[in-house]
Amino acid sequence: MIMKEIAAAMIEAEYLSHSAEETEKAGMELGKMLRRGDVVSLRGSLGAGKTVLAKGIAKALSINEAIVSPTFTIVQEYDAGTMPMFHLDLYRLSGDDEFESMGGEEFLYPDGITLIEWSEKIEDMLPDSTIFVEIAINEDLTRKITIEGGAR
Ligand SMILES: Nc1ncnc2c1ncn2[C@@H]1O[C@H](COP(=O)(O)OP(=O)(O)O)[C@@H](O)[C@H]1O
Ligand SMILES: [Mg+2]
Repeated sequence: MIMKEIAAAMIEAEYLSHSAEETEKAGMELGKMLRRGDVVSLRGSLGAGKTVLAKGIAKALSINEAIVSPTFTIVQEYDAGTMPMFHLDLYRLSGDDEFESMGGEEFLYPDGITLIEWSEKIEDMLPDSTIFVEIAINEDLTRKITIEGGAR
């Protein structure tokens, strides 16, 4: 019998960010650790810095295009980096049904990386290996960034 040891290390990190630049850097560090097929949930209130962090992830994937917020298009695809990146913003989505009818499930098992803002809208559909990034705005407007998850 051949036995394989499967490492199931998770990603875990915490940052205190004092500026958009620092949040982008945290995104870059996370981006360097991502593997093809990873889904990243970006959580935090409007203006917390989810899209800023997504820009850092894109940089780590060598995507040079400008990252535009997909609030109105729901999904933006970037194909010019080391692997495809799908950036979703589900703010305007009603829920699971609408996600399914737009063919959203394919983004949950990507041939590349998927980033999802407002993934709360499809909470029950997220893969178990989803990496969660939570950005909280502190009273002094700094951001507490907590990263955890991913069966790796
Ligand atoms: N520490 C910080 N991290 C991220 N963004 C910050 C920070 N401080 C101020 N900002 C500002 O907050 C805004 C975050 O916008 P955005 O990333 O679009 O938010 P979201 O996608 O979460 O709605 C930007 O205008 C950014 O310049
Ligand atoms: Mg955003």
